[in-house]
Amino acid sequence: MYKKLVTCLESVRKKIDFKPEVALILGSGLGDFADGIKIEQTIDYTEIEGFPVSTVKGHKGRFVFGYVEDTPVVIMQGRVHYYEGYKMSDVVLPTRLMGMLGAKKILLTNAAGGCNPSYKAGDFMMITDHITTGVPSPLIGPNIDELGTRFPDMSEVYSKRLQDVIRKCAAECGVEIQEGVYVQFTGPNYETPAEIRLAQSWGGDAVGMSTACEAMAARHMGMEICGISCITNMAAGISKVELNHKEVQETADRVAKSFKELVTKVVVNM
Ligand code: HPA
Repeated sequence: MYKKLVTCLESVRKKIDFKPEVALILGSGLGDFADGIKIEQTIDYTEIEGFPVSTVKGHKGRFVFGYVEDTPVVIMQGRVHYYEGYKMSDVVLPTRLMGMLGAKKILLTNAAGGCNPSYKAGDFMMITDHITTGVPSPLIGPNIDELGTRFPDMSEVYSKRLQDVIRKCAAECGVEIQEGVYVQFTGPNYETPAEIRLAQSWGGDAVGMSTACEAMAARHMGMEICGISCITNMAAGISKVELNHKEVQETADRVAKSFKELVTKVVVNM
């Protein structure tokens, strides 16, 4: 796995010599975030040797290197999901690659279903912790000693310092923000109402199909992490209507403007 990562790293380094400070993974609704930044260069995933390529409709697959105001960033426009059929180690390869490119901090964003009944579609939720019991750990397999230790601590995956930054940025943007625990399931199906009750009983506030595995891989390699979910729908059983990707996309699009504003501010201040 490490050899594969080094091959990807060399492949990127042949194209660009850029040291990002912050890595950013864009979820639904933020797809065009990168269009609004000062772009230095883009690299399609297909141009990178050994890189897993995303297939989901609406997810562009490329790295964008550039500046958000004065902060050098690398942005993943389109992520890799476990439900697409990749091994977990491939799902987190891009996250690790961004870390190896020099990013010490990462902001993870996603669309998620709300399982905390006090939430509503269109809310934002700062991720304070996560539960990955529903998916295999991306750290299973021989440990990559070059990146981190065999048994990494996960007692503060989402940096308390960055949580303070997000709170402050949200207040400055006039955006109300929920705080909660993100539960990752595999997807691609939405959860059953019973699974949502399970997530609630675990202490989960939102459910989704990404992010927590990326956070785990990033933490393993010592990155400082924060995350924001866009609650695009209330989860199964709480919502009275059937769930579908169109609703998720529509809500994400509806709040995209404030999501972008918040994410910009956080990136610049983290
Ligand atoms: N469940 C899982 N993933 C999701 C959801 C959901 O309800 N909404 C957006 N992503």
